[in-house]
Amino acid sequence: MSDIENLKRQILAAVAQAKDEAALERLRVAALGKKGSVSELLKSLGTMSLEERKVQGPLINGLRDEIGETIAARKRALEDVALEARLITERVDITLPAPEFPRGMIHPISQVEGEVTAILADLGFTVAQGPDVESDDYNFTKLNMPPEHPARQMHDTFYMKAQKDGSRPVLRTHTSPVQVRTMLGRKPPFRIIAPGRSYRCDSDATHSPMFHQIEGLVIDEETHLGHLKWVLEEFCSAFFEVPNVGMRFRPSYFPFTEPSMEVDIQCDRSGGQLRLGEGSDWLEIAGAGMVHPNVLKMCGLDPARYQGFAFGMGLDRIAMLKYGIPDLRPFFESDLRWLHHYGFAALDIPSLEGGLSR
Ligand code: PHE
Repeated sequence: MSDIENLKRQILAAVAQAKDEAALERLRVAALGKKGSVSELLKSLGTMSLEERKVQGPLINGLRDEIGETIAARKRALEDVALEARLITERVDITLPAPEFPRGMIHPISQVEGEVTAILADLGFTVAQGPDVESDDYNFTKLNMPPEHPARQMHDTFYMKAQKDGSRPVLRTHTSPVQVRTMLGRKPPFRIIAPGRSYRCDSDATHSPMFHQIEGLVIDEETHLGHLKWVLEEFCSAFFEVPNVGMRFRPSYFPFTEPSMEVDIQCDRSGGQLRLGEGSDWLEIAGAGMVHPNVLKMCGLDPARYQGFAFGMGLDRIAMLKYGIPDLRPFFESDLRWLHHYGFAALDIPSLEGGLSR
């Protein structure tokens, strides 16, 4: 067998055995590279006689072409194998269920705040706000609770450090200071609601040191108790989504209202279940009353000209009632499992037309 034949067999055998593209490339360089075995043969043509060259030329050129084509073909085959392997490992079974899309949920308190606001906005109330850190004056004194007034004691107040002037700001113990801010800052008539955080040093299954209230305040020249009762009745049947909810107004005492009352709604507790709007039990949901003339005076309004009513409700409380949530503490624990159970779809914004709680 000639040297050329030999070389050809050797190279083609190696090419057939090359395991990957890198090995193939090394073979290509060894044969066809500048100093490759085939290239050396080609160079040797220059030293041959004309006769010899006529015979060897086509043989060596043929060798170069055949090896080039074989390497190229082997390369394509290796590429196909590599692609095949990738397709297998990267395969996606599109019939599998899609992974769960992470969803944000609306907290029941935000939901209930949205519902309450939708209902009362429809009755002509606008939303007012005040700060969580409040002056003693607005939280107590201007609400007819001067220093040393016994009602202050019932508020379990968180006091802040004393200021330079000796006064001590508080974490507001209710949303009622927003009444003061509104009366001082606006000219009647007005109807406002103020949802927000309140703080009292108290903690158990139904009390949290930080909780939420909603305040309502109406000041006008001819406002009376009948208006207050109507607003609360309208509110309750819309909020609890029952056509007629029995209500009870019990005489009570708040320093900043006169007369004052506590508001109960009818419920049925039989069978270990709470049903609203039926039965012969009562559940307290709000404090309310006509704004005390002293408060009007201290807030710069003439009690001979203006009257009004106010009410305050616990948002957490009515959220627990409406949605059957037994314990208040998890409201503030940020447990995602709890939120997924009790939370609301992010895009279902409560409205009277669209439905409050769907
Ligand atoms: N601020 C009272 C409370 O927190 C509730 C209330 C508000 C009562 C308005 C009457 C009028 O207990």
